[in-house]
Amino acid sequence: MKFYLIGAGVIARSHADAILKLPNGADIEVKVADPNPHALNEFVKLHPKATPFSDAKVMLAEEAKQNDIVVIGTPPFTHFELSRLALESGRHVLCEKPLVMKREEGEILLEIANRKNLLLGCCSDRFLGLQKTEEIKRLLQSDAVGEVYKVTFVYRGQRSRPGVEYQPESKWFLDRSKSGGGIVMDWGPYDFAVLNDIFKPSAVEVSAAWVSKPETEVDPVDTVYDIEGHVGAMLKYHLDGKAIWVQYERASCTHGEAYHHVEIEGTRGALQWSPYFESDKVIYTRDKAGEVVTEEKEIVHEGNIGFMDNPVYYFYKKVKGEASPALTNEQTIFNFSCVQSLYDYVETGTVQRIEAGVTKTNQVV
Ligand SMILES: NC(=O)c1ccc[n+]([C@@H]2O[C@H](COP(=O)([O-])OP(=O)(O)OC[C@H]3O[C@@H](n4cnc5c(N)ncnc54)[C@H](O)[C@@H]3O)[C@@H](O)[C@H]2O)c1
Repeated sequence: MKFYLIGAGVIARSHADAILKLPNGADIEVKVADPNPHALNEFVKLHPKATPFSDAKVMLAEEAKQNDIVVIGTPPFTHFELSRLALESGRHVLCEKPLVMKREEGEILLEIANRKNLLLGCCSDRFLGLQKTEEIKRLLQSDAVGEVYKVTFVYRGQRSRPGVEYQPESKWFLDRSKSGGGIVMDWGPYDFAVLNDIFKPSAVEVSAAWVSKPETEVDPVDTVYDIEGHVGAMLKYHLDGKAIWVQYERASCTHGEAYHHVEIEGTRGALQWSPYFESDKVIYTRDKAGEVVTEEKEIVHEGNIGFMDNPVYYFYKKVKGEASPALTNEQTIFNFSCVQSLYDYVETGTVQRIEAGVTKTNQVV
C-alpha cells in the first residue's frame, strides 16, 4: 500500500501525520504533489521521507498497485478533476471536504468508482466514531428519550472565518468559485455526516433555509470575498415512517451571541453533547416524579488516533476490508447532496428533498 497526497498545504501535513500513526506507518511509502514549491518544501521538511512532485499527473502516472490510496487535500474547486484523475489511475480516493462543488460532479465520480470497483471516500467523517457520540447513539437505541421529535444543531462563532480570522493566508476560502461557498461548505459536510450517521434517514427535506454575509470592519477588500458567514435551516429527517425536525444554524461571523447547542429531544428525555471538540460531556435530562433530573457523564476519547487522524485511519481500514465508520461511495454523495440542498433552497425558494440511495435525481416536492 502506498499513499499519494495531492496538495501539500495545512491539511496534507495533518494527513501525513495520520499515516505515521497507522500500523507500520513509518514504513509506508508516501508521495506528495503540489505545484507550489514553498508548500512542497515545507511539507518535505516535516516529512523528509516523502517523494515530492510538482505535478499530480506525473506522480500518478506510475502503475497502480492494489490498495494504493490517493488523498486529496487541495481547495474544493480542484477536488472533482483531481479525484477523477486519481480514480482513473486505478486508485482508491479519499478527498477532503466538501467532496465536490456540485452534486453532478459527485455522481460522475461515483460512477467511475463503482465501475472500477474502487472506494471514493470523504474526510467529512472526521468526527464519526467518537466515543461520546457513540454513547448518544446507544442511549437513543435504549429508548432513554422515548420518541425523538426535535433536534437542535446550532454552532454560532462570531469571528472564525477561514481566510480572515482562521488561516488568513488561504484566501481561496473566501472566493465562492474556489471554495464552493462559505460556512455551509466548510462545516456543513461535518454536520450532515454526524446527523446522518445518528439518524440514518431515508430522506432529508430542507423545508426552509437562509444565508447571510455579516460585515466587519476587517472584511477583505483586496481579494474576492463573496461567501456567506451565517446560515440557518429547518430540516425534516424522514426515518421509518416518522419525521424529526432539525433546527440547524451555523455561523463563522455574526454580531449576535456566540454559542453552540446540540440537543436531541424526545417524549421522555433529552440528550445534549458536543459532537466536536468543545466538551466531552453527555448530558441526559428526564423526568422523575415531576422533577427534572439531569445526569452528566464525561466521555473522553481514548487512544492515540485523534479526530484529525480519523479520515486516513478509517479509510485505510475500509480499503483493507476492515469495519470502520469511513464514509464512502453512495453515502458521500447523499451527504454532499444534503449540504448543497441548503443553497438550492435559498436559490429557488423551493423545498428540497434528498432520497438516500437515489442519485442522478434532485426531487423537488
Ligand atoms: N486547514 C484546515 O484546518 C482544514 C481542516 C479540514 C479540512 N480542510 C480541507 O482541506 C482542503 C485544503 O485546505 P488547506 O487548509 O490544506 O488549504 P491550503 O491552502 O493550506 O493548501 C492547499 C494546497 O493545495 C495546493 N494545490 C492547489 N491546486 C493543486 C493541484 N492541482 N495539485 C496539487 N496541489 C494543489 C496549493 O498549492 C496548496 O499548497 C480544503 O478542502 C479544506 O476544506 C482544511
